[in-house]
Amino acid sequence: MSIFKSSTREIPRAAAVPRHIAIIMDGNGRWAKKRFLPRFAGHTKGVESVRDMVRACLEKGVEYLTLFAFSSENWRRPQDEVSLLMQLFVKALQQEVERLHSNGVRLRIVGDLSRFDPALQQLIRQGEERTAGNERLTLTIAANYGGRWDILQAANRLAQACPDKLGQWQEEDLAPFLAMAYAPEPDLFIRTGGEQRISNFLLWQLAYSEFYFTDTLWPEFDTAALEAAIASYQQRERRFGRTSEQLASDTKGNSHA
Ligand code: IPE
Ligand code: IPE
Ligand code: MG
Repeated sequence: MSIFKSSTREIPRAAAVPRHIAIIMDGNGRWAKKRFLPRFAGHTKGVESVRDMVRACLEKGVEYLTLFAFSSENWRRPQDEVSLLMQLFVKALQQEVERLHSNGVRLRIVGDLSRFDPALQQLIRQGEERTAGNERLTLTIAANYGGRWDILQAANRLAQACPDKLGQWQEEDLAPFLAMAYAPEPDLFIRTGGEQRISNFLLWQLAYSEFYFTDTLWPEFDTAALEAAIASYQQRERRFGRTSEQLASDTKGNSHA
């Protein structure tokens, strides 16, 4: 069942480990270029960083880790890079699902999956089904995902589900139709690789996330780098429109919901 959990309503405990971390894994190509390797070597190396992040999130008690693996715009890349990325995705699913399962990880893939090869679509379904009952960490891979696509598909499904309320929809009506309705909104958004943009990632869901940009290239993003991002997050004061003074009185037991 989908539940609407807007992070803009409740103030998470200060200095807590983020419940949900969303990452744009960028810089694979530049990592390879620096080493005079083909771009694809960077993508292969990047899979190791994914493994490290899953391990680190399990250790730290992060509940949701969401990784942008392939955007709806990445089809514009050279055909050979796209097809190598698809092969890497297939291989990663074939090799990692059992390990994820044994570690209590629930795997979800979000995005317009209809454009993928049927064999890949089947692997995705199998991986999701195999891990569906796990509760330690939800790992979401965004593949052929775009934030605008997500909002549009949610609006279209909402229009079909409740045509009678047309013109009167609230946030709470749309949110359950978004691709990640099963997760709270990201507390911490990280982008590696030096660019400071969202690149059509989770547009709706990042409304009140804390942003962290680092020049570190994704294949070099390790546990220490994640810890630095979390430490930065823990310094922030999340106010969601309120004042600092209100937050201070809130800790004394007053509510500002
Ligand atoms: C991110 O790394 C991975 C994908 C988009 C699939 P890039 O491939 O974008 O790496 P750079 O930005 O060229 O270094
Ligand atoms: C964003 O990276 C998408 C992923 C990491 C999957 P890009 O490297 O494709 O982003 P832009 O196009 O440079 O913004
Ligand atoms: Mg890039």
